[in-house]
Amino acid sequence: MKALILSGGTGSRLRPLTYTGAKQLIPVANKPILYYAIEAIRDAGITEIGMIVGETREEIRRAVGDGNRWGVKVTYIEQDAPRGLAHAVKIAEPFIGTDDFLMFLGDNLVRDGVTAFVNQFRQDAPNSLILLSRVPDPQRFGVAELQDGRVVNLVEKPKEPKSDLALVGVYLFDRHIFKAVNEIQPSWRNELEITDAIQYLVDHGYRVDAHVIDGWWKDTGKPEDVIEANRMMLEYIGSRVDGVVDESSAIIGRAIIEAGAEITNSTIRGPVIIGKGAKISNTYVGPFTSISEGVRIIGSEIENSIVLQDTQIEDIPTRIDNSLIGKNVQIHRIADRPRALTFVLGDNSRAEVQ
Ligand code: DAU
Repeated sequence: MKALILSGGTGSRLRPLTYTGAKQLIPVANKPILYYAIEAIRDAGITEIGMIVGETREEIRRAVGDGNRWGVKVTYIEQDAPRGLAHAVKIAEPFIGTDDFLMFLGDNLVRDGVTAFVNQFRQDAPNSLILLSRVPDPQRFGVAELQDGRVVNLVEKPKEPKSDLALVGVYLFDRHIFKAVNEIQPSWRNELEITDAIQYLVDHGYRVDAHVIDGWWKDTGKPEDVIEANRMMLEYIGSRVDGVVDESSAIIGRAIIEAGAEITNSTIRGPVIIGKGAKISNTYVGPFTSISEGVRIIGSEIENSIVLQDTQIEDIPTRIDNSLIGKNVQIHRIADRPRALTFVLGDNSRAEVQ
């Protein structure tokens, strides 16, 4: 069995962060989302991975390389534009050949991995196995309708969903999916939808099994999803202090403090991860916060947030909460009067003040 990871696309809902980087590389608990997918695939015993890349190809290649680090072999497959998930399958046919394969959307996180689903597919040998999860907002996803446990209908982002069963971005297929992706027509959003290709399988008498997962899953499409994913992944971290924590600082609960990080006169209340070379002083870092390499936080309070590389936060009088802050951002307080807020925000940024 092979695997196909989809790491193309534009990430429009995660702007401005995705103006400068691939959405699949946004870190959750200081690890790019895409790495969790590679690890899940490797743990399921699959070592040959095709990686669909688009506009952000260079960045993905730099981050993943040949896959050696994970003991897998990564082959890059170029997609000229995000023409849909089924289009990605279509162009992967030379790589997949006639093998069965697992398709994993590179912006999806499945906490318990995919080993159980791969085993189920191997054992039952359907033509496709799809994963479903009950969600409160099915109109954001592909939605499946089941009858007596069998898939009867699939619709991509329906305005009036017939069920609350969303398609999780992990699918298993045998070679018949190639016939389906070659037969279907582009959707209203001009994409070749994998949902339509699976419907084609159902309509043509192929066996499509469904598995409703009860473990935690997240499509990290929007900033609030990334923050929630971060919260979930931090639940599972251990404790390790490789950096320097001075005597006037306190670490409460589980925290990972990477080498070269310095914590001075601060309180860290876990679960928290603080990356290499980060400097935290006179600061409170509260639960569910991930701070990347080289970040400096002085005289501030922050919790339930993600701060990316080399950002500087200084003397902010109000606690920063529920925030996703990009690389190299500067947030400072100035004492001068008249009091005013000064912003230099990129397109599609969001700032909320009180
Ligand atoms: O996350 C689950 C959902 O993923 C499913 O419920 C939907 O049925 C499925 O269509 C998909 O919906 P999204 O709108 O979330 O897909 P998105 O455009 O975000 O693309 C998912 C991943 O695939 C993302 O990492 C980008 C990549 N991609 C996307 C397209 C359209 C490609 O590599 N090539 C593409 O052409």
